[in-house]
Amino acid sequence: MPESLNPPDPPLSDGVIALRAFRADDAPAITAACQDPEIQRRIPIIPVPYTEADARRFILMTLQAWHDGTSCEFAIVDPATDQYLGSVGLHLGPNPRRHAIGYLVAPWARRRGVATRAVQLVARWGFERFGIQRLALWTLPGNVASQGVAERAGFRFEAVARNWEVDRGDGPVDAVMFTMTPDDVAELALPADRPDGEQVAPSIAEVPRELRASGTRVAPFVDIVAAVELAPGSMRRVTLAGLDLLVAWTPGGIVVTDDRCPHMAAPLSIGSLDGGVVACPLHEGRFDLCTGETVQMPTTGGLDADGRYHSPWSPSGAQIKPEPASKKLEARRLTRVNRLRYYPARIRDGRLEAQLPILPE
Ligand code: FES
Repeated sequence: MPESLNPPDPPLSDGVIALRAFRADDAPAITAACQDPEIQRRIPIIPVPYTEADARRFILMTLQAWHDGTSCEFAIVDPATDQYLGSVGLHLGPNPRRHAIGYLVAPWARRRGVATRAVQLVARWGFERFGIQRLALWTLPGNVASQGVAERAGFRFEAVARNWEVDRGDGPVDAVMFTMTPDDVAELALPADRPDGEQVAPSIAEVPRELRASGTRVAPFVDIVAAVELAPGSMRRVTLAGLDLLVAWTPGGIVVTDDRCPHMAAPLSIGSLDGGVVACPLHEGRFDLCTGETVQMPTTGGLDADGRYHSPWSPSGAQIKPEPASKKLEARRLTRVNRLRYYPARIRDGRLEAQLPILPE
C-alpha cells in the first residue's frame, strides 16, 4: 500500500519557476490553458471541450494522488507572481523502474524553458526522494517540441514504443520513449550562483526548430564550455574550429548562435544583453535571442527577414546624418536582416555542448 505523500517544503524552485501543489483557485488558469488546440491535440486524455468543472476535477484528482501516494502533481508557477505557467507530474509506478513524468505548458508561458526547468526540478527531486532507477517520458511521434524538452532536460531517446498510447478514439498510437537513469541525473549541470545569492540551474532555451543552423541536423555534439563559467543574464564569445559562437543565458535559458549580427556581421558579444534581447554595437539593431526575430531594425534601414523594406532612421536626439554615396546607399537598401540561426545545445556532465557542423579533428 503506497504511503501518503506531501509536496516538498519549501517548494521546489530554481529561481525562475517554482512548483507547488494545485489549489482550487488555479481552476480558471488551467481552464484557459486547456483551450489551446496544441494541448488538446498532443494530450489525448484532456477532455474536449474543456470546462472549469474539468479543471476542478483535475485539481481534486491531483490532491487525491498526493494523499494516495500514487503521483506527485505540481502547478508550475512564477515564483514572484504565482502566475500559473503549466503542470508537471511524477507518476509513481509499482517499482523504482516504472516511474514516469508528464507535463504541459500554458500557451502564455512557452519558449521560456519552463518545461525543461520543471522536468529537471522534478526529476532531480524524484530520483533522490524515491530512489528511482528509470524514469520514462514519452510523447506522440509528431510532438517535436516535447521531444526537444526531453533531450534538453537530460533524458535519452530510447525507442519508438509501438501502440503504447491511445488516441481520442481509443485507437492505439505509437509513442516516442525517452528515459533517464541515475547516471543521467548525475550529468545534469549544477546550479549557478546568481548575483542575489540564489542558485539557478542552467537550462537550454526552446528555440524555433525551423531556425536551426544549416548542417546541424546530423552534426555531433561538441564541447563548448563548462556550465559554471556561464551566468544568468550574461553572454560571451566562444571560438571553435573557425566558428565564432555567441553563448547567451537569457531568461528563457541558454542559446548558442553565431557571434555575428544578422545585419552587417558585427560581433554581438560586445553589444549588450537586456533580458532576452541583444543590442548590436553598431547601427542600433536589436534582436530577440529566443525567437530569432528583429526587435529593432538598424538605423541604416534595409530589408527585414520577410523582404519588406524599412527606411533609415535616427535615434531621438541624434543628428541626422547626410545620405551616403549612391553605391553605399544601394547596399544598405538591399541588405537583408535575417532571423538568427541556432546550434542545438544540451548540458551534459556540467558542460555545455552544441551540435556544430564542423569536422572532428
Ligand atoms: S551590424 Fe548590427 S545593426 Fe548593423
